[in-house]
Amino acid sequence: YHVDWDIEAAEKGGFDHFMLKEIFEQPNVVKNTLMPRLPLDQDEILLDNIKLTQSDIEKFKQIYIVACGTASYTGLVGKYLIERVSRVPVISEIASEFRYREPILDENTLMIVVSQSGETADTLAALRMAKKAGAHVIGIVNAVGSTIAREANDVLYTWAGPEIAVASTKAYSAQLCAMYLISIKIAMELGKIDTNAFKALREELYALPDKIESILKQSHKIKALADQYKSSKNIFYIGRGLDYAVSMEGALKLKEIAYLHAEPYAAGELKHGPIALIEDSSLLVGLVGQEELFDKTVSNIKEVKARGAKVLAIALEGNEAIEKTADEVIYVPRTHWYLTSILLNIPQQIFAYYIAVGLGHDVDKPRNLAKSVTVE
Ligand code: G6P
Repeated sequence: YHVDWDIEAAEKGGFDHFMLKEIFEQPNVVKNTLMPRLPLDQDEILLDNIKLTQSDIEKFKQIYIVACGTASYTGLVGKYLIERVSRVPVISEIASEFRYREPILDENTLMIVVSQSGETADTLAALRMAKKAGAHVIGIVNAVGSTIAREANDVLYTWAGPEIAVASTKAYSAQLCAMYLISIKIAMELGKIDTNAFKALREELYALPDKIESILKQSHKIKALADQYKSSKNIFYIGRGLDYAVSMEGALKLKEIAYLHAEPYAAGELKHGPIALIEDSSLLVGLVGQEELFDKTVSNIKEVKARGAKVLAIALEGNEAIEKTADEVIYVPRTHWYLTSILLNIPQQIFAYYIAVGLGHDVDKPRNLAKSVTVE
């Protein structure tokens, strides 16, 4: 009699890989990160123990969002949201660059550092520089009690739970949720979002888990697209505004686990160089989640298609006009414009996962990469 005692298989909860399990945990992760901070009987956001008052927030003349890798892409989303609504200048920057360029830091600076592990060496160094200069540092951190969580002035935990797969999925979604909460809080304190606008946003935040669930239900279709496109040579992810920020994460996932050459580009920038690389074997992933920029991005997609590339679009339900341009379309549910990024990214995760599986790679432990980089 023999018992096949495979702890790892048990931990994967019936999924083939940790990455897929973590992708499917996202509705819950989003709930856990958002709900405790959004009580329905109060019209405010409760940011745990963060002590920032209205006058503290009014004092900030400059905000930096600093991180590495996937976490850094939530910074660009934060920048767009905070600048557009709160009208405070935000610089979103890679920690390894930030720390060596003598950035302008003082007591009127707010720094937000984002880190799943809370141990990334460059991010930690940036945090220490900022604190030394008198800036106020908020950490968006997943690992409880980690160095960044301990050293930041304030911490907002992402309740994603342990992330085992090297390529980040659920931690990124949780970081976006934390960014939504902090940016909305700043806007409310600065009088840029009133109670009615807040309630509308809160309602949409509460609806996110079900919307993510409905995207996960499309994974069979996305797997078929992954099989269809897995031999593409050059893959470009393009978008404008918030979609551009999301495209960076999409391209990174494909590099990390599928080892495919994928580049994110601001849609309007393609014609200034990269379009020269487009040929018949290229794939363009076009993100069209920004209603007011839809026509602009579609015209960029047409330029690429005219040069032979295949086009996979990720679009909002109801924007079927995209089918005239794209070869294939994945639709995500509509939400408040403020929150589109998190939904648009989910198909990108599933697409990268199935391409990597289809190419036979070790999805959970990709070559050359570490889950946490604690050396420079
Ligand atoms: C490593 C990981 C990435 C991660 C980055 C930042 O490079 O492979 O997936 O995005 O570090 O990690 P952090 O723990 O600071 O979010």
